[in-house]
Amino acid sequence: MAKVKTTFYCQNCGAQHSRWQGQCNTCKEWNTLVEEIVEKSNQKDWKDGLEDNPVQRKRTQTPQRISQIDATESPRMDTTNAEFNRVLGGGLVPGSVTLLGGEPGIGKSTLLLQLCLNLPFKTLYVSGEESAQQIKMRAERIKKEVDNCYILTETKTQNIFRQVADNQPNALIIDSIQTLQTDHIESTAGSVSQIRECTGELIKFAKETNTPVILIGHITKDGNIAGPKVLEHMVDTVLQFEGDRNHTYRILRALKNRFGSTHEIGIYEMLGHGLREVTNPSELLISQRGSNLSGTAIAATMEGMRPLIIEVQALVSTAVYGTPQRSATGYNLKRLNMILAVLEKRAGFKLGQKDVFLNITGGINVDDPAIDLAVVVAVLSSNFDIEISSQHCFSAEIGLGGEIRPVSRLEQRVNEATKLGFEKIFVAPSKSALSDKGTQIQPVSRIEELVKYLFA
Ligand code: TYD
Ligand code: MG
Repeated sequence: MAKVKTTFYCQNCGAQHSRWQGQCNTCKEWNTLVEEIVEKSNQKDWKDGLEDNPVQRKRTQTPQRISQIDATESPRMDTTNAEFNRVLGGGLVPGSVTLLGGEPGIGKSTLLLQLCLNLPFKTLYVSGEESAQQIKMRAERIKKEVDNCYILTETKTQNIFRQVADNQPNALIIDSIQTLQTDHIESTAGSVSQIRECTGELIKFAKETNTPVILIGHITKDGNIAGPKVLEHMVDTVLQFEGDRNHTYRILRALKNRFGSTHEIGIYEMLGHGLREVTNPSELLISQRGSNLSGTAIAATMEGMRPLIIEVQALVSTAVYGTPQRSATGYNLKRLNMILAVLEKRAGFKLGQKDVFLNITGGINVDDPAIDLAVVVAVLSSNFDIEISSQHCFSAEIGLGGEIRPVSRLEQRVNEATKLGFEKIFVAPSKSALSDKGTQIQPVSRIEELVKYLFA
């Protein structure tokens, strides 16, 4: 029996090593090498292609002047899903490879199946995870009458390409890349070398046939896409589907996009019959507008390029036990502690012996610093038990000195507040004058000043 060939692959960068070692030579990460069975094709020297072979010569590319390259953009393929189009930068690019990552159960398969059912052109959905019956059951929940969608349950890439050649779809969807296996390599599905090789084959297929391919990728415990990091370098676009599983909102984000901006996001709501596109998220994220409760404040934040009006709720109560508790959902706890320290030190509010709980409604995680001012207002409002008018909203960052600092894209935030009918928005003082036709703009420079306005 022939000796089994094995190679050690780095889980982080995908580099090959002939024997095990503690540190990867290429990316210098520790403990990332794993052994895998491989069947190496005879590797050739790069000089082999240089012999004077006219056929081979003709096939290779020659350098072109950049000014002479035809740059007419290939038309985008409309996916009929406005949020998905937006995140991709205007639709699917023919011949592009897109990787969609996300936690298990977040709705990746649902999103792509729904997309597939709505596509105005022939699509092949290849699943290595679910049976055709399971997919059909899911499709029945989503329900669409278009009949352009073909399902294939297969994991061998060679068989997939054979079916693709017969079926000739205009787009290919793979659920998931971790279940694929190629004949060229003997290691198990989901291993670094399999993922890399299968992705390589799919990329080659996409570029040669000009068919867009979308891959679903699993993510690991720490939130990275499973498999070598090179996977993300290989594909054209990396999308992430995220959200809180206990809530219905899902955000689709582009982490990398060779054909568009990475600032756009798509917002969906998971319903019993699939995902609904949310075109006006702000209205949904404010839970009870009109019923004034102490401890709530509304922030004008940005998610990528989209303004989002979000409700912040705080509860401040006297600590029963010795050490006061601080907890935050949807907001960074360290930042909450910092804000409480600023309130204590710079504005003289004694919150040291109080429990503070903070919650962002809708299960959304906000890292835009513009939410700081609303956090301060919500905490103080709960502390004094004085409600804030539901006609006010807030958008500014808090500095360590207790100063209120301006944030980016204020105009867009103000416009969103105007659209939702807020009467007043509290912001940091800035030099550029904004027209306050709809919503009145109230600059405040220090927390004390804000307190005077709201709680005097
Ligand atoms: P799924 O797409 O299987 O997740 P992933 O492929 O990312 O692992 O999503 C499954 C979840 O979505 C499951 O918990 C049920 C829920 N769901 C709905 O709420 N409504 C629906 O119409 C569908 C199809 C799924
Ligand atoms: Mg799935």
